[in-house]
Amino acid sequence: MQLNQLFMGLLLLTGTQLKAQQINIPIETFSNALVLQTDSSRHLNTIYFGKKLLQQKEYDRIPGLYKQSPDYTGELASVYTTSGSRNLLEPAITVTHADGNNSLDLRYVNHEQTRISTDVTLLRILLKDPAYNFQVTLFYKTYFRDDVIEQWSVITHQEKGNVILSKYASANLYLRAGKYWLNQYHGDWAKEMQPEQTRITHGIKTLDSKLGTRTNLFQPSVFMVSLDKPATENEGTVLFGSLAYSGNFRTDFELDNQDNLKIISGINNYASPYTLKPAEEFTTPAFIYTLSAHGKGEASRKLHRWARDYKLLDGNGERLTLLNNWESTYFDFNENKLKELLKDTKKLGVDLFLLDDGWFANKYPRNNDHTGLGDWQENKTKLPNGIASIVKTAGLNQVKFGIWIEPEMVSPKSELYEKHPDWVVKQNKRQEYYFRNQLVLDLSNPKVQDFVYGVVDDLFTKNPELAYIKWDCNAVIYNAYSATLKNQSHFYIAYMRGLNKVLERIRVKYPKVPMMLCSGGGGRVDYNALQYFTEYWPSDNTDPLERIFMQWEYSYFYPSISSANHVTDWGKQPLKFRTDVAMMGKLGFDIVISHLSANDLEFGKTAIVNYNAVKEVIWHGDQYRLADPREGNTASVLYMDTQKTSGVIFNYLVNNRYDEGSKLPILLNGLDVAKKYTIKEINLYPGVSSPIDANQVYTGDFLMKVGFNPELKSSRTSVVLKIDAVN
Ligand code: DGJ
Repeated sequence: MQLNQLFMGLLLLTGTQLKAQQINIPIETFSNALVLQTDSSRHLNTIYFGKKLLQQKEYDRIPGLYKQSPDYTGELASVYTTSGSRNLLEPAITVTHADGNNSLDLRYVNHEQTRISTDVTLLRILLKDPAYNFQVTLFYKTYFRDDVIEQWSVITHQEKGNVILSKYASANLYLRAGKYWLNQYHGDWAKEMQPEQTRITHGIKTLDSKLGTRTNLFQPSVFMVSLDKPATENEGTVLFGSLAYSGNFRTDFELDNQDNLKIISGINNYASPYTLKPAEEFTTPAFIYTLSAHGKGEASRKLHRWARDYKLLDGNGERLTLLNNWESTYFDFNENKLKELLKDTKKLGVDLFLLDDGWFANKYPRNNDHTGLGDWQENKTKLPNGIASIVKTAGLNQVKFGIWIEPEMVSPKSELYEKHPDWVVKQNKRQEYYFRNQLVLDLSNPKVQDFVYGVVDDLFTKNPELAYIKWDCNAVIYNAYSATLKNQSHFYIAYMRGLNKVLERIRVKYPKVPMMLCSGGGGRVDYNALQYFTEYWPSDNTDPLERIFMQWEYSYFYPSISSANHVTDWGKQPLKFRTDVAMMGKLGFDIVISHLSANDLEFGKTAIVNYNAVKEVIWHGDQYRLADPREGNTASVLYMDTQKTSGVIFNYLVNNRYDEGSKLPILLNGLDVAKKYTIKEINLYPGVSSPIDANQVYTGDFLMKVGFNPELKSSRTSVVLKIDAVN
């Protein structure tokens, strides 16, 4: 409210000046400029989004250089496309006013820029409808150094009754290029982050999710758009986009009659018309984007740096290596077995033991995935002395202890369901329908929010030494309905607001405890959730060959420190290969240590020592993708510190056909041309020697122009190299 009053005050000031004057709003970051300009009737348009010019006044010339076919609406380039008036294309916002009219016309009123820090600026632009007391404020939070913009909108009105919002996007971009290519992702359980690249044709392409929870199961909101030609790792202009929202999202790409591309992203309006009361503010989630003129690699490094500094919880901090018991025991464990696993945790040398699903529920014990979710009391048969006893044993073994929960969910067979059937998302007149034999709790209900918060709070209150939470979310929402919500079309939005409230409360009380964002694999990964989580679980598919491909794609959008990678028994590769792949992020294990051969155990222990020596650069360095597994037989990824003095390169053979190997040298990147480097193979399996001469000295110039051969072949399918500058 206060903000609105402030804007209304400014409106009087600027309103009169505006008639004569065209307003230019250049939103500049280190390399780019997004330039907005009013037309004669104060409609605000995007006139440019590209490389920053040296002289701001030259932006004015840009519109005159475009001789495209007519814009019959005068609104094609609108910064926030309305509907019901002159617009003929996809809108960013659609409303029905209190009087039943559904036209909207938004005109520029004023703008105000606030410097938050030397790097961060917040720009607010107020748009108002001249015929209705209805306004939208566009927010652009710019991160100068990394060329990242977070954009969202706040919608409000002072009409005489409620207004219905039928579409309410976060951002509406407008790009001008000859051609456009879209890189999008699709997936399913164990098949997350499958990329597809297509040329964008005229009409509308929509990426969306309607799953409610676990919303990325089939499609994440992240995407890339290349301008003029498909961007490669180091070349081409490319926009990375992502909606910071964990619920239903929708991004429309519309190539218009002028051959320009409109990108509209926000909450999915599917089944969600929103009734906005007078003076209520509807704040959309942020759409996050960065533009690079130097390919996908640079765009990803900018996003990583931004995420570590500004978004991911504890992005510049440390992470714990761990041993998880999910795949070694599934639901079949008891106190004694866990105590043995704690000894193994110590033996292996990791920091923490993570107890997974199956430790809770008594009336309907959680011995399989049909029962017990919601009954978060220790199972007395498996854990007669409670979690406290396990936490104590962990301490005696000098390892930390973490635990799995899935607090948003309920099993049909649970005491929670029996006690609170009205807390469950379901339609009473319809048959229950399950995803992984379970249902979702109604987080739009404040009582359910308290319950979910209480699950976490109780665990920490009873076990203050608890050092880690794995927060799972295995079901999507069927039969969306809340027993307590007045307006059912608010359900999906209210669910996400409820979830965020719970996570916010948890973080107020427990600001830094590491939490893994898991969703039956990678069903929920986004920059809303990652504000509350230190890491995400990319997929239950831990076959290292599959993971090379998946981690490669995820790594465009999320920094490696946030990628929880576990060594498991998936796949046919030896332990070394599996461990090397898991080291490209936050390392964990989910194998039976006592089943390892002496050499495997020896290798595992040394690998953790090696990982501890290089983890700093993996977590906080710059990532360079050197060889794309989709384009050849090898994959190669380098993590280099920002001073360009020390790094680690992971190399894999991804094709086991006869005589395959790294036949050509792999070009390095991110080095200092003037520095000299040595390259040494590390993480060798016991008894194996390396053909790589660690005493050779190479210039950065040589390594980036000629390259280096890791000597991958069928007997050396995974090679980890340490690169260090020498004097
Ligand atoms: C799905 C997760 O992705 C797995 O890692 C595991 O925690 C199971 N749920 C437990 O039910």
